[in-house]
Amino acid sequence: MSFCYKTKKGYNIGKMKVNLLLIDDDTSFLKDASEILKADFNVITAEGGKKGINAFQSDYFNVVLLDLMLPDMHGFEVLEKIKEMNPFVPVIIITGYADVEKAVEAMKRGADDFIPKDFNLGVLREKIKKLLETRDLKISHKFLKSELEHERNEFIYASEVMKKIIIELEKIVNLDLDVLLVGETGVGKDLMARQIHEMSKRRDKNFVPVNIAGIEPNLVDSELFGTVKGAFTDAINRVGRFELAQNGTLYLSEIAEIPHNVQIKLLYFLQYKEITRVGSNKGIKLDVRLIFATNADIEKLRKEGKIRDDFYYRIAGTQIYIPPLRERVDDIIPLARYFIKKYCLKYGIKKDFELSEELKSALLSYHWPGNVRELESMIMSSIRPEFEMVDELRLEHFPYLFSVIEDLKRGKDEFEFKPYKIAEREFKKSYFSELFKRVGGDIKSASKVSGLSQKYLQRVFKSLGLI
Ligand SMILES: Nc1ncnc2c1ncn2[C@@H]1O[C@H](COP(=O)(O)OP(=O)(O)OP(=O)(O)O)[C@@H](O)[C@H]1O
Ligand SMILES: [Mg+2]
Repeated sequence: MSFCYKTKKGYNIGKMKVNLLLIDDDTSFLKDASEILKADFNVITAEGGKKGINAFQSDYFNVVLLDLMLPDMHGFEVLEKIKEMNPFVPVIIITGYADVEKAVEAMKRGADDFIPKDFNLGVLREKIKKLLETRDLKISHKFLKSELEHERNEFIYASEVMKKIIIELEKIVNLDLDVLLVGETGVGKDLMARQIHEMSKRRDKNFVPVNIAGIEPNLVDSELFGTVKGAFTDAINRVGRFELAQNGTLYLSEIAEIPHNVQIKLLYFLQYKEITRVGSNKGIKLDVRLIFATNADIEKLRKEGKIRDDFYYRIAGTQIYIPPLRERVDDIIPLARYFIKKYCLKYGIKKDFELSEELKSALLSYHWPGNVRELESMIMSSIRPEFEMVDELRLEHFPYLFSVIEDLKRGKDEFEFKPYKIAEREFKKSYFSELFKRVGGDIKSASKVSGLSQKYLQRVFKSLGLI
């Protein structure tokens, strides 16, 4: 998919027109150049270095054209300040032919390219296009490096309930609605946030994940919104995660940890699509899709006052609940097969294993309190080079699962001896209630798991008051 494209109105990245800041002290040049550039860019001009820096602070720019010969500040200083505020925004130096040496020096100091003062629009356009492409690569590299190192999982699902969720997602993915993902730890909220980004038109732009719980509470504000020099002791001009997610997706997980003052700023962004850096009062317009996630009970957080009412009502609208793994048993075997394949490959083992009936039933009957994460690490830690020699994987190949299943059996052995009728009634009640819970009330899956007919299950669930 191409990165930039030309529309009748101008030169666009994605659906946004490119914002260009032109800094020069020569008013007639500013006027003439912006006339030419206007056809293709959103141009803001700034007369002199200080005004240039001010303008850069108060709006979002995709690219800067900077003249080095400024009366109020040295061009190198302006360059340095801009790069300090946002190292990813390309700066192109405007230069007279006599100044090539200076331009080269500017490149050494972080400028991205240079262009003569009597530039040709076509050449400039090409330069900007290339620079924006590498800029995106640089950001992606910085922010997704850890993800790439861990090699992201494919999104695996087979259960009815997950299929329904994906169908729902497909409907809303390009409406640019903000989404709240809820579900127990390890159910796949991070992976789904990624999936949403990739299903959307924003897929070529940045996906910036931020785990709020991993940031000191008093730094969440500056981390998300950036800072302006002097905002607090040692504060420097720094770009926040919001600006890095421009045109893309910002994923905020563990939102129970968001301080109230930041909730207010987020609410403001959701309403007006504008942020302010810490220490500044100038708004910066941004186009960012937000995805939130929490493994806590969000309604409870609201009642406890951890989440502000107004923030809660604004984000709880498009809520996606990812059920725990034990309630979507149809996903367990496909996930297990996927992880077995993935981690066997690390040992160079390429094989389609058979799974023994006992192993399958153990996988299905364990309740996976750590959800998919637990299943994945259980498999990851069990794979051995010796698997190369076997064709069928059995329960004893997975010591962790083997021991939790043993514990379960032992627990079951310790039951009190009661009259048969009572024991049968109790067993039925707990068996069918558990079954109902695990399949999320889906009769078809319940029938598959239990081997009982759908008709019979319908009757039992009814008699137990479950449906
Ligand atoms: N449907 C899935 N297909 C493949 N892998 C999955 C799936 N769901 C989860 N995983 C994997 O399980 C692990 C845990 O998932 P993830 O980090 O997305 O959980 P989470 O819901 O964000 O948990 P927490 O609330 O603890 O942050 C990850 O390695 C993820 O890739
Ligand atoms: Mg997570």
